Amino acid sequence: MEIKEVHFIGSFERESQCPQDMVPEFAFIGRSNVGKSSLINMLCNHKGLAKVSNTPGKTQTINFFRVDDAWHLVDLPGYGYAKISKKMRGKWEDMIERYLLTRPQLQCVFVLLDSRHSLQDIDLEFINWLGSRRVAFVLVYTKIDKLRASQVNDHISKIRNGLLQYWNELPTQFVTSSEKKIGRQEILDFIGDLNLNF
Ligand code: GTP
Ligand code: MG
Repeated sequence: MEIKEVHFIGSFERESQCPQDMVPEFAFIGRSNVGKSSLINMLCNHKGLAKVSNTPGKTQTINFFRVDDAWHLVDLPGYGYAKISKKMRGKWEDMIERYLLTRPQLQCVFVLLDSRHSLQDIDLEFINWLGSRRVAFVLVYTKIDKLRASQVNDHISKIRNGLLQYWNELPTQFVTSSEKKIGRQEILDFIGDLNLNF
């Protein structure tokens, strides 16, 4: 699949404000700074579409992008952002939980994991929560351009093995670099297949 046209629809603070049209929707989530907004820009071939920042916690709302007038990409705020008050964290949890558990349009959640780091407790906790709530998800390893080619498999196997302590099998996985545009076609084709069945 290819993307021809994409535009920003809006930022929303809660699920009830999100677009109500019944088109398939794909959401991107993961630790703050893992590269969610960059990945959306890379998929859309559009650098300034989703706001990217070096400062963790840049994305704080649910951001909707409409693609080819047929489906939505959703950029979610990251978790695990250290400089956040308890109150804000509670607000994030409520917003994300409601969004993930109640959207009939949501086809699949892309959970991003930084390929440079070992599996973090907060990622494991989130992935296990998705599993327990039966939310469909896939895994995306990000920023592989920051690793030497010889390290990539080793790093990713370690993350996989960490997850396999809790899971009998793993969902579909994508190895990506937004910088080098790696993994783009695989993700777009995956979304294209799900769109056909919507
Ligand atoms: P929040 O919105 O704060 O949760 O962050 P995010 O997950 O949306 O991350 P974002 O896309 O803003 O990227 C964070 C930083 O990582 C930025 O400085 C990006 O330029 C950088 N980055 C993202 N993806 C890649 C990648 O594939 N390779 C490299 N080298 N840097 C990347
Ligand atoms: Mg972001």
